[in-house]
Amino acid sequence: MGWDDLKKKCAECDKCALHQTRTNCVFGTGNENATLMFIGEAPGEQEDLSGVPFVGRAGQLLDKFLCAVDIKREDVYIANILKCRPPKNRDPLPEEEDACIDYLREQVALINPKVIVCLGRISAMRLIKPDFKITKEHGIWFKKGNYLMTAVYHPAALLRDPRKKEDMLEDMKRIKEKLSEE
Ligand code: URA
Repeated sequence: MGWDDLKKKCAECDKCALHQTRTNCVFGTGNENATLMFIGEAPGEQEDLSGVPFVGRAGQLLDKFLCAVDIKREDVYIANILKCRPPKNRDPLPEEEDACIDYLREQVALINPKVIVCLGRISAMRLIKPDFKITKEHGIWFKKGNYLMTAVYHPAALLRDPRKKEDMLEDMKRIKEKLSEE
């Protein structure tokens, strides 16, 4: 499937109950030829309203970290596990992830990035391993098929606990280095 078909299918999706409460489907945004892809959890309020991932407070903090390591947001691709906002930003339900995950798989296959970065625990548990422990395992590298994968703290977690920002900066520096390795 090409990008246009995939975007259309996603915008019309009614595979789980979240389609009833969404304003917009938040498909993903950025460079469709990116070598670096970030994958978050699910859209929040601002994302649901705008249709663009990571534009609220957490997204603005992510932008600061990208800027700090000299990565341009327009050079990367950003998507989420879920394309529709869960009510009151609750955690995604397993059946919602199951209904939605194929859109993400198709996006990853079309982009074929070198590095995939999971933003937060929920994304890492779904994409790296079910027992992923973000406090212990952020910044660790995993090889999955063709992809180099790692996870960093979710920017919303950094807003709640700014002491984690130091670790985030170190992880982001390593991600930047990894892109130019080999
Ligand atoms: N949190 C996420 O995980 N994704 C977004 O797009 C916004 C906030």
